[in-house]
Amino acid sequence: MRQRHIKNLDELLKDYEDQLIARPEEMKGHWRDAFREPCFEKERGPLCDGDLASRPLYAEVGCGKGQFITRLSSLHPENLYLAVEGHESVGFYALKKTRAAERENVRFVLNYIHDARDFFERGEIDGLYLNFSDPWPKPRHEKRRLTSPRMLGEFASVIKPGGFIEFKTDNDELFAYSEEQFRAHPMMDVEFVTHDLHRDVPLDQLVTTEYEDKFSSQGKNIHFIRVRILETLENEEGSAL
Ligand SMILES: C[S@@+](CC[C@H](N)C(=O)[O-])C[C@H]1O[C@@H](n2cnc3c(N)ncnc32)[C@H](O)[C@@H]1O
Repeated sequence: MRQRHIKNLDELLKDYEDQLIARPEEMKGHWRDAFREPCFEKERGPLCDGDLASRPLYAEVGCGKGQFITRLSSLHPENLYLAVEGHESVGFYALKKTRAAERENVRFVLNYIHDARDFFERGEIDGLYLNFSDPWPKPRHEKRRLTSPRMLGEFASVIKPGGFIEFKTDNDELFAYSEEQFRAHPMMDVEFVTHDLHRDVPLDQLVTTEYEDKFSSQGKNIHFIRVRILETLENEEGSAL
């Protein structure tokens, strides 16, 4: 379902075509090519040097208004980042932010991701960020959670062994549920967990999101988990376990 609250969004988005990947399924297996042409009118940066294949590619699913991806990609201009946001109007703010910062190493998909394997080849990405994902608290909506067993299995199959998933949230119930799913997954190894990220990690070592700033300024503790992908196995239907 398309979600948009900004009038004339189609018109506005035309200005951002260079940053947007309209048909992500077609990029499956060659995502790094999406970064070949620079987006901004300035001298061609180091991304165009032809060594794109060796650059790490990270994805953030549910990037919201883009503070995290803008700051992270500025800190690491050598890496490639794909920001996925299903709510187009929200994603528009993220596009504007990365443009203002002239981030050549970020591309956007403004679609909901339902099965990561539709977008990515096995082991195609180096890591995944899930920040303040929608909690979907009702049991009957469990399958919509980005940390449900099905979703985690699909993410695990598109992240290369040795890659990671980082997940953070203010939501106590969602975190408890998610930590259980990460720990139960045979191909995931929990590397670090904290229930108070801002107490345990100095703020200048963190890249925060809009939601994170909002909740932590209200005194809410932020939960965080980082897991390593060990290896992916396939079941008989060809899905990742
Ligand atoms: C609660 S907001 C958090 C935004 C941001 N990560 C932050 O921390 O400030 C969650 C965002 O994830 C997006 N989202 C949820 N499920 C998604 C999916 N399957 N694919 C892409 N975006 C999704 C929502 O549209 C929403 O903007």
